[in-house]
Amino acid sequence: MVESADSLAYLRKEHEIIQMVSGMMKAVSVRLAAGDAVSPSDLDKMMTVLENMDKCHRVEEDQVLFQLKVRSHNFDGPIRSLLAEHDSARQIFKNLKTELDKWKADKKSTQLLIKYIQDYAASLGEHVRKEEEVFKSKDVGLLTEEDHRNIVDRFKKVEANVLGTQTKGKMISTIIELQNRYSK
Ligand SMILES: [Fe+2]
Ligand SMILES: [Fe+2]
Repeated sequence: MVESADSLAYLRKEHEIIQMVSGMMKAVSVRLAAGDAVSPSDLDKMMTVLENMDKCHRVEEDQVLFQLKVRSHNFDGPIRSLLAEHDSARQIFKNLKTELDKWKADKKSTQLLIKYIQDYAASLGEHVRKEEEVFKSKDVGLLTEEDHRNIVDRFKKVEANVLGTQTKGKMISTIIELQNRYSK
């Protein structure tokens, strides 16, 4: 299969995966809130997915957003707010990690863990929607074919460095596995 050399189409495809991650996290939080058993190793898998998503998708996206800003100042405001959201997602992740460690030591300590899982899931959905709006702007047409090719080449390098043999396909399998296990 020939992969798209359209960097925005590439990110949109990843957004579909991110929406799956958001749904899977909501399912996990519902199960935790109901007092059902959730396996610590599954939560570790979820954290690895989030970590990889941050190191791949957000880093890749920063490159696209940077390139869009170079092409048109109309992107300055919206992109500043998107980049700030990347940072706040990283902060929620840090809080989530701290609460997960506490929960591993004491399974009764679920309240904040559930809150941060839900906050993270909600922020993903909301953020992706905002980004898709930015990607619809007519000024994205200012990206040249060469820009797209260069950006997608850099995406591939980022993924090879971060994921190595883990591959995106394996990451998607993990998301589906957790989704199936924790959805009603
Ligand atoms: Fe983003
Ligand atoms: Fe995104």
